[in-house]
Amino acid sequence: MIDKINALRAELAALAANGEGADVEALRIKYLSKKGAISALMNDFRNVAAEQKRELGQALNELKNFATDTINSLREAAEAGRAKADVPDLTRTAAPVALGTRHPLSLVREQIIDIFRRLGFTIAEGPEIEDDWHVFESLNFAADHPARDMQDTFFIGRNPDVLLRTHTSSVQTRVMTSQKPPIRIICPGRVYRNEAISARAHCFFHQLEALYVDHNVTFADLRQTLLYFAREMFGPQTEIRLRPSYFPFTEPSAEMDISCNLCGGKGCSFCKGTGWVEILGCGMVDPNVLEACGIDSKEYTGFALGMGIERITNLKYQVKDLRMFSENDVRFLEEFTAAK
Ligand code: DAH
Repeated sequence: MIDKINALRAELAALAANGEGADVEALRIKYLSKKGAISALMNDFRNVAAEQKRELGQALNELKNFATDTINSLREAAEAGRAKADVPDLTRTAAPVALGTRHPLSLVREQIIDIFRRLGFTIAEGPEIEDDWHVFESLNFAADHPARDMQDTFFIGRNPDVLLRTHTSSVQTRVMTSQKPPIRIICPGRVYRNEAISARAHCFFHQLEALYVDHNVTFADLRQTLLYFAREMFGPQTEIRLRPSYFPFTEPSAEMDISCNLCGGKGCSFCKGTGWVEILGCGMVDPNVLEACGIDSKEYTGFALGMGIERITNLKYQVKDLRMFSENDVRFLEEFTAAK
């Protein structure tokens, strides 16, 4: 019997040393329950010879106490471990939160606004649903002016005087009729034209207009503003080129090209081998426009320019298909996560 006691004692000592993580309840049943190993020894104890009772009884009691202590401390260790697991681990990294991204057109619009803001321009806004006077008449498009055909206008209902603006130039006249010079504004906004939707054209897109009216504003001011804008937007190596053009609301008028920012002006498929890409229209505000808005054209001069935000975005990020901008495909939008 003493051998059995010693064997159990050795088992329990091993458990006490490395029984962490064991099923404590199973161990209690194995050793301490009524049908457990120690109870079995207690039963055997009844048949032990009288002269051995003292020694074995003591050993048995010690074994029972040792088993109880071992199992109790294993249970405590298990509970402490469980309690520890319940405490939040404040050193863990946070669960990642999916962040949205800015739309590329918003990113580019903000960049353009930021550049003009540094030159002292403030933002002006106007309605998208306009009347004929603000979109055409005040801007020197005569009723039968062929330039009106350049713009495929969406009319609202049957009234030819209610239409969606075809350009942000309408905001110029809204500002000139409500403010006195000096005027130095930019007007970002959405415009609409009745065009078939394709990779290269859409029925709505975005423009940004700039207008500066004051004493002695000259073409040199316009050119320097354009050069500053182009270099801030596309890098200090950028060159600009002004080509004579025609717009009813500016005289003289020009279109501005920048040296192709993909090939650096050497000629590539993007610039069709010319080394130049067109980016905006501009000119000196036609005196007729100033007068139509109640500004004395003998006292004041001004320059204006207008650009397509999609066009600038394409130049910066080479978006091949205009339709991508309005499809809201998150895979496309996520490409601009790192863009600034
Ligand atoms: N409104 C013109 C367009 O939609 C762009 C433009 C050209 C605006 C010349 C201007 C300008 O202010 O001076 O095509």
